[in-house]
Amino acid sequence: MSQGFTLWFTGLSGAGKTTVSKVVEKTLRERGLKVEVLDGDVVRTHLSKGLGFSREDRDTNIRRIAFVSHLLSRNGVAVLVAAISPYRGIRDEAREMIGNFVEVFVKCPLDVCIERDVKGLYEKAIKGEIKEFTGVSDPYEEPLSAELVVETDQESADKSAERVLATLERLGHLPAPSIGGGAYSAGEESEIKKRLERLGYLEREGGARGSDE
Ligand code: ADX
Repeated sequence: MSQGFTLWFTGLSGAGKTTVSKVVEKTLRERGLKVEVLDGDVVRTHLSKGLGFSREDRDTNIRRIAFVSHLLSRNGVAVLVAAISPYRGIRDEAREMIGNFVEVFVKCPLDVCIERDVKGLYEKAIKGEIKEFTGVSDPYEEPLSAELVVETDQESADKSAERVLATLERLGHLPAPSIGGGAYSAGEESEIKKRLERLGYLEREGGARGSDE
């Protein structure tokens, strides 16, 4: 059984945590890993149903996610967490609890997140209709020593995902893929995949998977 690990995506709402994690999830599955995704929005409808957004509730949410990640990753699963997790202290606690922990700061300027406003929540938060909204009326503590920072206003989700995979390879959590007997880096592999798709040997990707539900 291969060693599990937890990839912990942290960042503002709308920064791209879910989007990048879905691309990474797909590639990890293609490489034969067992993968589970714990996405804040989904977790809050099940495991953390009823919790709000006070510091205490957010910390409880993160502790639950960390506990499940710990159980899964010690059983060989690649766990992908996508949660704002705005407090550094509890992220560090998760790191201690889980081990094999890879923190990815999904960085995007607040004004870009507001501009995107994918869920329409920023508008409501700015109007004061939603209280304690991260980045608007609640803090976000940026990671000081994440294993990787991806800047989603500067690069595509595919590019960010490629850098995540390269980081996993660099840290020894993921073997480099072998195609035709040779080992390729994440960047080379993605280039090869694109060529094979263009040549019609590989089916072109039909978009990201739906939610886990
Ligand atoms: S965390 O702070 O506890 O890590 P989590 O990632 O689970 O947050 O949930 C964040 C999601 O909840 C956001 O993407 C957004 O859809 C929704 N949400 C609703 N209210 C808030 C709020 N006050 N602050 C942040 N996100 C909120």
